[in-house]
Amino acid sequence: MANGILQGKRGIISGALDENSIAWKVAMKAKAEGATFTLTNAPIAMRMGEINKLADACEAEIIPADATSIEEIENLYTKSIDVLGGKVDFVLHSIGMSPNIRKGRPYGDLNYDWFLKSIDVSALSFHKFLQVAEKMDAINEWGSVVALSYMAAQRTFPFYTDMAEAKAMLESIARSYGYRYGKAKNVRVNTVSQSPTKTTAGSGIGGFDKFYDFAEKMSPLGNASADDCANYVVMMFSDYTRMVTMQNLFHDGGFSMIGVSEELLQG
Ligand SMILES: NC(=O)c1ccc[n+]([C@@H]2O[C@H](COP(=O)([O-])OP(=O)(O)OC[C@H]3O[C@@H](n4cnc5c(N)ncnc54)[C@H](O)[C@@H]3O)[C@@H](O)[C@H]2O)c1
Repeated sequence: MANGILQGKRGIISGALDENSIAWKVAMKAKAEGATFTLTNAPIAMRMGEINKLADACEAEIIPADATSIEEIENLYTKSIDVLGGKVDFVLHSIGMSPNIRKGRPYGDLNYDWFLKSIDVSALSFHKFLQVAEKMDAINEWGSVVALSYMAAQRTFPFYTDMAEAKAMLESIARSYGYRYGKAKNVRVNTVSQSPTKTTAGSGIGGFDKFYDFAEKMSPLGNASADDCANYVVMMFSDYTRMVTMQNLFHDGGFSMIGVSEELLQG
């Protein structure tokens, strides 16, 4: 279904770990739509080596960067501008990690050092991506920055523990920086709030499979796949959405507006 809507655009795509990653699908679609971009992930995530396959398929260079490190983000923009031959038009933040979730800590027994790590990796990193870009003037006018969020920012999902706070902050950063970057350079900043999706980050959450099935039954369109999410994100990078900014955009098959579905009532 490619239509060349990213023809001539340059970008940076973070967070592709393996072929299930939402970022992986975004990279494949962005390539099909005509974009050139660099790929980035935490150096530790490179060990699996899967990202090399994506880089080959997309003819993209990989620039490792820990999203919590200002220096590494600066290097990411400098090298990306160099490799791509100019400033970027889009940036994808597809990064999330909670040590508390990984280690199964319940909400009433959180480790606060880990809580800070969750916030740093999953939310502050988004501010760092934006602040470094602005200071370096690394994003073209009318550029588009998208981060991935989840509805636990608005409503309570007990298994999501400290990631709920991280996502609430992430969405707030999109509003605050969206104002600032919009005024300064007409750069738009949004979050896409995605359905539960079977990825490494998603499946790491306790009770994920049961919840996935629940959300599937609740949503009139069913859960949105990573592929569908990629289509939406690519549209957000395109010129078709130039006036959309500071938004949290639900991409969830209707889940966020449902009270209860007939399917669930019938059991
Ligand atoms: N899977 C879901 O159910 C779901 C639903 C809504 C939103 N999201 C969000 O989508 C985004 C992408 O997750 P995914 O589901 O594709 O899973 P994923 O595990 O494939 O991607 C998460 C990525 O974050 C990267 N990362 C972790 N720490 C990092 C660091 N310090 N620096 C740089 N990168 C780091 C990982 O290496 C990985 O590539 C996350 O923000 C996640 O919260 C996921």
